Amino acid sequence: MLWMMILACDADKVGSSDTVDTTDTSAATPYTYYTDIKPILEQNCVRCHQDGGLGLGDFTDPELVISFADTMLVAIDEGRMPPPASDPACQDYTGSEQLFLDPEDRDIIADWTAGGSPLGDEADAVTTEPVETNLIDPDITLFLPAAYTPVYKDDENPGNEYRCFVLDPKLEETVYLTAMAPIIDQASIVHHEVLFSMPRSALSEGDLDPGGYDCIDGIGTEQLDGMIAAWAPGMLPIHFPEGAGMRLTADDVLVMQMHYYSSPENLGLSDQSGYAFHTTDSVEKNVYMAPMGIFDFSIPADEESYTDGGSFTNSYLDLDVYGMFPHMHVLGSEFKASIRHTDGTETCLVEGDYDFNNQMTYQFSQPLTFEQGAEIDFECTWNNSSSNDELSWDPETTGYGERTNEEMCFFFTLVSF
Ligand code: HEC
Repeated sequence: MLWMMILACDADKVGSSDTVDTTDTSAATPYTYYTDIKPILEQNCVRCHQDGGLGLGDFTDPELVISFADTMLVAIDEGRMPPPASDPACQDYTGSEQLFLDPEDRDIIADWTAGGSPLGDEADAVTTEPVETNLIDPDITLFLPAAYTPVYKDDENPGNEYRCFVLDPKLEETVYLTAMAPIIDQASIVHHEVLFSMPRSALSEGDLDPGGYDCIDGIGTEQLDGMIAAWAPGMLPIHFPEGAGMRLTADDVLVMQMHYYSSPENLGLSDQSGYAFHTTDSVEKNVYMAPMGIFDFSIPADEESYTDGGSFTNSYLDLDVYGMFPHMHVLGSEFKASIRHTDGTETCLVEGDYDFNNQMTYQFSQPLTFEQGAEIDFECTWNNSSSNDELSWDPETTGYGERTNEEMCFFFTLVSF
């Protein structure tokens, strides 16, 4: 903000002086599209903003970028873009540099925009490696049983559809998942995905229908134990450290919850997304997604910022922690979790603004220690007022539940035993 005010003052000075030639604005910035802006957008924006992507516009098109530059800066400065994620100052996450825009890069975009957005010379173009969101050479790939065309008929969530599909790995013996990533077929309609495992015997009749079944939240209490991963666009594959993996037995099937989202131009699109895995026969550390959460809370109507939380004490053995997936519904606005160690020190795990449409599993670059006797403290903050534009109903007091107008406060934690 301060920076913008300074810029505004400078602009006034330039405008009132008759010695400065204001026609050649390009001289005002050392930056050009090809040398400076293109690599920043490739790193932070293009995986969502490209043809067929989730965000609007193709940010690899220089003309579009130039005409859109002011709007981009506003979206960045208002914290909308890139979509909010856990603060990299809290913990070192795999791929943080893609989740968060470096403030210096923001300033480069601002300077370039104020300087008239010069294109530069294509011959000097700086190219970066594309952000790799797929798993290379997977051992197992599973897809929806058939291409599915969402109908978006849910009146409470216009334009949204939550659908679950059973993916049967048909394993003959136990394997351990060591890495995983979704395979997104239609990025323009797949908003997020959550993957569960469950025993084949727990399937109900009709679950195996190739067209899937409705599942608004999918994280019912009976499935809490089977959570495997949550994905949002732009997320990188999950890789566990050497010797660690998640067990999947011959009795297990996977359930993939798809959140589809429509806009008028992609109504009628059908999707056949999937999931890819690396596996191994044995591991030293068995990774488990431990659900930590609270059930007994009540969020008063019209509260713009209401916080509740809990803690989980490790009374078992020393554990490694690999990652965390915070989950609330649409009222969720902020989340925070940390380890309080037995010596009184704290380790921040996740902390940031919550976006229901950008839920993801944060992976720690290094496993963290959650020793016996230590505690994980967590907090959820909700905005249950009309200032929350995700709210399509009048604010009412609400508590725990699976429906969209009810809430949750969960931190699914990847731990190893
Ligand atoms: C994780 C995916 C994702 C990433 C990364 C992302 N965007 Fe977006 N962006 C979206 C989606 C989805 C929309 C449309 C939905 C909406 O309006 O919230 C959008 C909308 C926008 C809009 C128009 C609406 C608005 O809020 O002003 C602008 C401008 C924009 N993005 C700029 C950027 C820039 C600049 C970057 C990189 C610094 C970026 N985005 C990174 C997904 C993304």
